[in-house]
Amino acid sequence: MCGIVGYVGRQTALKVVIDGLRRLEYRGYDSAGVALVSDGELFTERRAGKLANLDAALADAEPPQSMTGIGHTRWATHGAPTDRNAHPHVGRQGRVALVHNGIIENFAALRTKLEAAGHELDSDTDTEVAARLLEAEVAAGADLTEAMQDVCRQLEGAFTLVAVSVDDPDRVVAARRNSPLVVGLGRGENFLASDVAAFIEHTRDALELGQDQVVTITPDKVAVSDFHGNPAEGKPFHVDWDIAAAEKSGYDYFMLKEIEEQPKAIADTLLGRLTETGRLQLDEMRLSDDELRAIDKIIIIACGTAFHAGLVAKYAIEHWTRIPCEVELSSEFRYRDPIIDRDTMVIAISQSGETMDTLMALRHARQQRAKVLAISNSNGSTIPRESDAVLYTHAGPEIAVASTKAFLTQIVACHLIALYLAQVRGTKYGDEITEIVGQLEQIPAAVTEVLAALEPVRELAREMGEARLVLFLGRHVGYPVALEGALKLKELAYIHAEGFAAGELKHGPIALIDQGTPVFVVVPPKGRGSLHDKMISSIQEVRARGARTIILAEQGDDKVLPYADQLIALPKVPTLMQPLVATVPLQAFSCEMAMVKGLDVDQPRNLAKSVTVE
Ligand code: G6P
Repeated sequence: MCGIVGYVGRQTALKVVIDGLRRLEYRGYDSAGVALVSDGELFTERRAGKLANLDAALADAEPPQSMTGIGHTRWATHGAPTDRNAHPHVGRQGRVALVHNGIIENFAALRTKLEAAGHELDSDTDTEVAARLLEAEVAAGADLTEAMQDVCRQLEGAFTLVAVSVDDPDRVVAARRNSPLVVGLGRGENFLASDVAAFIEHTRDALELGQDQVVTITPDKVAVSDFHGNPAEGKPFHVDWDIAAAEKSGYDYFMLKEIEEQPKAIADTLLGRLTETGRLQLDEMRLSDDELRAIDKIIIIACGTAFHAGLVAKYAIEHWTRIPCEVELSSEFRYRDPIIDRDTMVIAISQSGETMDTLMALRHARQQRAKVLAISNSNGSTIPRESDAVLYTHAGPEIAVASTKAFLTQIVACHLIALYLAQVRGTKYGDEITEIVGQLEQIPAAVTEVLAALEPVRELAREMGEARLVLFLGRHVGYPVALEGALKLKELAYIHAEGFAAGELKHGPIALIDQGTPVFVVVPPKGRGSLHDKMISSIQEVRARGARTIILAEQGDDKVLPYADQLIALPKVPTLMQPLVATVPLQAFSCEMAMVKGLDVDQPRNLAKSVTVE
């Protein structure tokens, strides 16, 4: 939430900063702004709305040539999304500019203090308070780094701050507590950003920062300290994807590209998991086999689409490991006083690795001495760093706000973890594990097959553009697929959609069904015996009440044919892997619906991709 960029070097800072913001706009698009330092002057420009509005304002503004700058793209928390509340915010003398991601929780008290000292604040934001304090420290003789350390010691809450000052024209100073910030390491230039995507076209060498750290970049140096000025170290890492992965590459929307990239994302996530001797290995498994053998309960925590991946994972984990597994929304987890101890494994699933709800739940789990394993798509992010073990999904950058390829790779990652636990604990033989991994390796081809047959699904969306309510039914692992199908439609097309466990239908939701109500049904593979038959009964029940049924069933499932107004045939895959093929048509359907309605597929209203506030 909120994207932040800082640059100092030899290039035109404005271009580097604006290009960086363009790659971070998925983090929020309520307003955008920049600040540049040049010849003892501070230049700022900011505009409500998407980056295009800032571009237009800059075209009229004649910004100065500068090699030091910062920028911000906002997802509003404190204060409406107006020009006045857009970042950067400046100090009273206009000598320091600051951008911020997060929430400064004690801002009201600080604001009162500033007002008592004669400050008249120009915005409703928590950020301006920090800008005023920062400039006051600089005016009192501190350099920008010392001033930042001092201000951070006064702040409570979550924040990434990035600042420039006319008194220190060759440096950009940043700080982080509980919000994301990475450093990009260049030659004769350095970068700061919420996410590596902002500087990937300039460098793939990056530095991960710890909690409560301040970083100062100049063209030739990066210096890290804690909030008290004690020197500290960042952790260097290399980004394993390049600029092409962060471009639309001819697609109208990132989401369309990301849907198509799913076979590769799955294949990359599976790559190198089996050793030469056929044993499974994970990326950063910092837990011993003894610790893994002692685990007696697994709790998965996640939000949004990642939560749905967790719901799928429960079936695989319990089936292959026989360890009881619960799945919980991160935002609810710690408030119910969950029963966890050192033998509990908590699996935190987060594409961004920065979702605040999940981070806070993870910290709660670690305080109770649970072992935490992260599944993340973002190297250098906070959730993997604070976990005992990590499995990275190698999906490449996911830029569209609605998650697609990350979801499928999260499911694959969960399957790998379940199999890894089964290997360590001996609940599956080695050859069984190799066989299941072999089945997973067939999934990219199956997804490719689904992708090649999406036109009828898109046609359906074009025809259903006027629908006001769409329902999704599933059973077993098809239930989370139904939830995900409904979430996608809500997020992208702003249509009221609900996913239900088919068996629950008769306990209430069936009342929603009227003549012509579209109902998508994810049918379990035929091999699931009674489950398959029960699903057919559910389909008959909704049809009897006038529903229009769109059936997703495996190829050759003749039994469902008489009950399908539309049939979407899925490749035959093992039941636990069916979500990996069944979700894809639902993604394409929602995406097309949004396009039919003329909506911005990549940046749906009110949403942001990386939600760094609770
Ligand atoms: C936001 C996004 C969702 C995503 C969820 C969890 O709400 O809009 O697409 O599933 O956050 O994100 P995470 O990065 O933790 O997987």
